[in-house]
Amino acid sequence: MTKSDLNTKMRTGLKKATSLMSRGKLAEAGLILDSLERICPSHPAVKYQQEKLLSGMGKRKVAGAKQARDFSGMLSLAHSMRQQEKFCEAIEACEELLKIDENVAEVFWEKGCAEQANGDYESAILSFSSLLKLDDSSASAFNNLGACLQQVKRLDESELMYRNALKLRPDYFEAKKNLGNLYIEAGSYHQAAVELRPFGDARSRAQLLECQYRLGRFSDYQTAAEELASIQPDNIRAAAITSFISQQISKENPFRFCPDPLDFIRVGEIETYVKDVEIFVGRSLSFLEEVDSKWEPMNKTTKSGYQSEGNLFDLYPAQMQEVRHICESELIRYREEYISRNCGLISHWPEKFDFNAWFVRLGKGGCQESHIHPSGWVSGVIYLQTVLNPEANEGAIQFSTHGFDLPIINQLPQSLTLQPERGQIILFPSSLFHKTVPLRQDVERSVIAFDLRPL
Ligand SMILES: [Fe+2]
Repeated sequence: MTKSDLNTKMRTGLKKATSLMSRGKLAEAGLILDSLERICPSHPAVKYQQEKLLSGMGKRKVAGAKQARDFSGMLSLAHSMRQQEKFCEAIEACEELLKIDENVAEVFWEKGCAEQANGDYESAILSFSSLLKLDDSSASAFNNLGACLQQVKRLDESELMYRNALKLRPDYFEAKKNLGNLYIEAGSYHQAAVELRPFGDARSRAQLLECQYRLGRFSDYQTAAEELASIQPDNIRAAAITSFISQQISKENPFRFCPDPLDFIRVGEIETYVKDVEIFVGRSLSFLEEVDSKWEPMNKTTKSGYQSEGNLFDLYPAQMQEVRHICESELIRYREEYISRNCGLISHWPEKFDFNAWFVRLGKGGCQESHIHPSGWVSGVIYLQTVLNPEANEGAIQFSTHGFDLPIINQLPQSLTLQPERGQIILFPSSLFHKTVPLRQDVERSVIAFDLRPL
């Protein structure tokens, strides 16, 4: 199923479920939501409707009709704030609600979810635990509690909570995947493989290969990699790890997406596209000063630095017009430069795609930890501010075939370090691991990063 088909299916399903709920047909709506969850386990709209469904089935406890209206309105407000990522406001609203009534499970749900999203896992653990004292039939609460416990490294308790969630809902895919990830974190690769095996999504299939490699089952790994390459030839995560593993176990890499990614790094100059680089850089930096950004945002690799949220191309189309032109033009050159190369990166170049861009500003000690861009195809960085007199490669971008702390059992992995200059643009396959060497000096390093993403 293509991404576009998937989106249509999800939209249609959600519409149908909402309509059924509004007509009181909760059981039928529940079946549709369950089927949507199986297709896309962490879809926020599905989760939201499931929670609404639960509340419609009478699992809320609110006393008094007038108070219920006020209470319900405030709870909706808290939910809306959480959806808008205003987590502190959502938590404050929930605290006010708890002063009125401490026995409403849904308040603890909203509060716990906001705290979890805000990175306050200890508070979220308390909230989800309180919820479960009121209602121990919430598989979602057990799952989220497990995720928070995992974040604070209470792995045994986390496993128990995921198991509780699965007892309540044996087909709860998100809990199963979380359990698989927990086992990877705990180094229990055999158990992780058992949990991840039923899943067909790109990430789980690639993780399964990683488990087989870590377990030393190279023959099983090779067979599974060949099979996956035939059904998901453009699985970015699998393409990333197989470049490394094939070298380690001296086997041919069955993934032809980009087996030699270090050969596909292109360094370009912004001056090719703009009349005056200094004016462009100055204008971009002053615009980006005004863009909302977060210090060390959750689930991102930016450390000791700020990163913008959302897609800058969508949020600021006018201000980003020049940057978009540079990205599009450089991508055309990139494709032309490698057009004769026999690999999926070039031969399967997506017909339909979009662009995603974000801004990163690092200060002293700042870096990007090693990562890939699994939803991208080609990724790039425009350098607006770099280190003038770098010490020991600080601020450099380091590319490597090695990542995810996979064990090195044979040859040292291939790598390349580039010290970028202000006004340069570097493009590379999204499957190539990269990181930034931490800044030693008290200086700023500012970039616009972007992905070309297949649709
Ligand atoms: Fe990156």
